[in-house]
Amino acid sequence: MKLLIIGGSGLIGSHLLRAGVAAGHEMVGTYRRHPLPGLLPLDGADSSAFAELLSRVQPVAVVHAAGWTWVDGCEDDPARAQSENALQPEMMARLCHASGVRFAYFSTSYVFDGEAGPYAESATPRPINVYARSKWEGEQRVLAATNGVALIPRVICVYGAEEQKKNFAYQVLQALRTGRPLTLPADQCGNPTAAADVARWLIRLLELGERGIWHLGGPWPECTRVEWAEKLIAAYAQAGIAAQPGFALKTLTTAELQQKALRPLRAGMISERTGALGFQATDFATTIRDLLAG
Ligand SMILES: NC(=O)c1ccc[n+]([C@@H]2O[C@H](COP(=O)([O-])OP(=O)(O)OC[C@H]3O[C@@H](n4cnc5c(N)ncnc54)[C@H](OP(=O)(O)O)[C@@H]3O)[C@@H](O)[C@H]2O)c1
Repeated sequence: MKLLIIGGSGLIGSHLLRAGVAAGHEMVGTYRRHPLPGLLPLDGADSSAFAELLSRVQPVAVVHAAGWTWVDGCEDDPARAQSENALQPEMMARLCHASGVRFAYFSTSYVFDGEAGPYAESATPRPINVYARSKWEGEQRVLAATNGVALIPRVICVYGAEEQKKNFAYQVLQALRTGRPLTLPADQCGNPTAAADVARWLIRLLELGERGIWHLGGPWPECTRVEWAEKLIAAYAQAGIAAQPGFALKTLTTAELQQKALRPLRAGMISERTGALGFQATDFATTIRDLLAG
């Protein structure tokens, strides 16, 4: 299959490009601000550029692994969040559907309020912050634009090797290496999920021609941020990286942390759909070895 990945320079998009090639597919990826070798420029605000790219590349499917992912930043600019997370993907989905091209849109378990997680695909969303509302709106717009046939993978707590080195695994690594305390919420849960796994699973769903909402999470939906950090620290220790003096894990409640955006606390996911597919998650040590090798 020929696949076009919007957001090929991002965490998930870059793993999709790798996983697609490994599975024998022809992969084309885009970037917006961070050019990487082989990627094509695209700003999702430019619908004619997207239309031109679509007719030039002629993919079987387009995967939207893009958008504005800074949860606290979205609180200050709801219009930008709606534009990049809902309206741009809707435009792309509509153009794809009109050309017979399948469309996948990455969403998040933040569409839930986090009061009663973990959540299955059939649970009812109730987003509690601007980012989450823009993603929930994006899901609905993309489904409407494709007459319900789009593929909507929801993910949470994704980590792994990344060119921009910004995901949680790098924040822990930076704190270990510089010997500074890391303050984390003790009461926010979600499934730590390797980006490489998300990518492999999504490529498989595309190969199977699947549609609709899929929860693609690692096996530990009730893992707290602190437990996740502890697993990462152990994996770094296994790889020979010890904490420098001064490093410490400090825990606060979400209420004490006063993050700008409200956070769904129990936002982990389970899946009613992936069981039959035998998706296996990669362990922390392997993902961290891959990150350090990158
Ligand atoms: N990572 C997670 O834990 C997580 C959790 C839940 C949901 N998700 C969803 O998964 C998707 C991918 O997340 P990620 O963590 O891989 O994001 P990321 O690392 O921030 O990457 C975002 C990608 O999208 C591109 N991009 C951003 N805005 C764009 C625009 N307006 N037009 C075209 N390209 C644009 C970026 O390009 P440049 O960097 O080149 O500018 C980058 O390639 C997002 O939709 C996010 O909401 C992620």
